[in-house]
Amino acid sequence: MPRKILVTSALPYANGPLHLGHIIEAVQTDIWVRFQRMRGHDCLYVCAEDTHGTPIMIKAQSEGISPEQLIARIAEEHRADYQGFLIGHDQFHSTHSAENHYFTDLMFNRLQDGGHISKRSVRQAYDEKAGMFLPDRYVKGGCPACKAPDQYGDSCEACGATYSPADLIEPLSTVSGTAPVWRESDHLFFALGRFDAMLREWVHSGSLQDAVRAKLAEWFASGLQDWDISRDAPYFGFEIPGHPGKYFYVWFDAPIGYLGSLKALCERRGLDMQSYLAPDSKAELHHFIGKDISYFHTLFWPSVLHGAGYRRPTTVHVHGFLTVNGQKMSKSRGTFITARRYLEHLPAEPLRYYFAVKLGAGVDDIDLSLEDFTARVNSDLVGKLVNIASRCAPFVARGGGQLAAALPDPALYREFTAAAPRIAELYESRDYAQAMRKIMLLADRANQYVDTQKPWVLAKDPAKTAEVLAVATQGINLFRVLMVYLASVLPSMACDAAGLLNAPLSRWDEIDTPLLGTALAAYQPLAQRLDPKVVAQLVAAPPADTPTPQLAAPQAAAPPAAAFATVDIDDFARLDLRTAKVINAEAVEGSDKLLKLTLDLGTEQRTVFSGIRKSYAPESMRGRYVVMVANLAPRKMRFGVSEGMVLCASGDDDRVFLLDVDAGAASGMKIS
Ligand code: 2FM
Ligand code: ZN
Repeated sequence: MPRKILVTSALPYANGPLHLGHIIEAVQTDIWVRFQRMRGHDCLYVCAEDTHGTPIMIKAQSEGISPEQLIARIAEEHRADYQGFLIGHDQFHSTHSAENHYFTDLMFNRLQDGGHISKRSVRQAYDEKAGMFLPDRYVKGGCPACKAPDQYGDSCEACGATYSPADLIEPLSTVSGTAPVWRESDHLFFALGRFDAMLREWVHSGSLQDAVRAKLAEWFASGLQDWDISRDAPYFGFEIPGHPGKYFYVWFDAPIGYLGSLKALCERRGLDMQSYLAPDSKAELHHFIGKDISYFHTLFWPSVLHGAGYRRPTTVHVHGFLTVNGQKMSKSRGTFITARRYLEHLPAEPLRYYFAVKLGAGVDDIDLSLEDFTARVNSDLVGKLVNIASRCAPFVARGGGQLAAALPDPALYREFTAAAPRIAELYESRDYAQAMRKIMLLADRANQYVDTQKPWVLAKDPAKTAEVLAVATQGINLFRVLMVYLASVLPSMACDAAGLLNAPLSRWDEIDTPLLGTALAAYQPLAQRLDPKVVAQLVAAPPADTPTPQLAAPQAAAPPAAAFATVDIDDFARLDLRTAKVINAEAVEGSDKLLKLTLDLGTEQRTVFSGIRKSYAPESMRGRYVVMVANLAPRKMRFGVSEGMVLCASGDDDRVFLLDVDAGAASGMKIS
């Protein structure tokens, strides 16, 4: 029986480029969707831009354009990137759409009618200059626990403490740079606690991963808190019906965006939306997400759906974070690889394959090691898979261009097709890593077959023409089975291979019958080896003028760095430390900590804001040498752009000590 399946991946925020972390999720989802279709199921894949909220509003303001203009531009970039990675959304929509507005209002009204919404006053930081309430991440100041300066209002990146913005030492709004005041305002809350029993039942009935279930058990144990779903104007989003001046919090309408996108698709294709949404729907609903947004998808979202009278997700598939060369992607280290940057250097399919090799069914982080990536692709795709076709196809061409009428080793063919149920199970459970392993073992087997038969030796004997064709036919048929298994990972290569075979590679049951007696097209190379030099360029250091984006969408806070964690010599070599002469130093109005330094690097001058005012008078700085980090990405501060960092030792008592450069040194000398 064909299953009816709706699949989503997380909606990307419309305020910045897609990076490989987005792409791994899209690839994981796309492989699953293509696999379901190849198995004959009716599977739809929808996604959309996540367009609302403060970061998008502020980014648009800073660019001097409307939020609508910003989200339209970013949507085009995202679309192009997804296409570049062969992600086949049936619908890629927007949360700022009539369809999403419709469902957001409808579902809120139903929740309100069901008594699940309550109102209460909230005290929050308010920026009087900008005229807006400030999300926690838009307030910065000293950490109340460890005193580290310049920490976000919700948690400290230095010591990991969590707190509220009111606890910060000398808090400042990152929007206007002024000190916030604290104001009360009414907010609307969704009563998540009322769904406790329903959620526990859902968790049991669903097929959630063990790690996700364990996390849910922790959340249940600590009690489900009401969820604040409203924000005050000005806010880029939908105004809440019946509550003028209040807007839906972006995370309320974002998952509803899945339904908005489905609505647009159903209208376009004349499909019955209700059949996907009704509480007794037979259709499956699968969400693919990263582990940082599990709370929203495994607690809020099923509750909102249920409270609004809709079905709940069949399951939520959670994946880990992507690391590059073993480390969190980082702009300063040059390992923040955008989708565009990748596509400018390399084709999509090697990475799709490598992600498949690395993706298991769990929530562990996935590492893109560039060396391993190059080695795996060259060995598996070029050395094993394509090798079968490139060795066999020419013998078919020489033998008249048509495959033989029978297989010389049908048992071997059956061995290949007998693997189908297990490989399908692995795809179904998203254990692509195991699936790729099994498929590559079969590829080894096919190559062994060709090695043993040695068609190139047989071909020297004119009496063995038929035998050569038979061996090549066997090899091509084994290749065909493998291509069917891999078509959801390598859709473009599968398309080229289908061209070679003159037969579609679009359904798993095609392998039930071998391809015999039909013509092959001329062989064209199906994959190229990766050049390690080109791969290495993916992580080349970013140009020095790449600004560190300020006010980016809040990301999950990084775990605090372990004290005295070791770095290797390459990490150290990435720092460009130089001597610099201070040619001017002046106090910064409005800051009792900063000096504005003009530094001579020999070849250029830099402006650096340095927090040394309490220990050094401006006049004592002029003419002296300092040590600076010259390749720190420029940082936009309230007072201007800081183009580097001056190194100091810091004591417990707020005093800092500049590092001295011995007499005789000149500006711009490299420190190593
Ligand atoms: O974390 C994020 O990037 C969000 N934009 C994901 C939203 S997924 C869904 F709920 F809309
Ligand atoms: Zn701290």
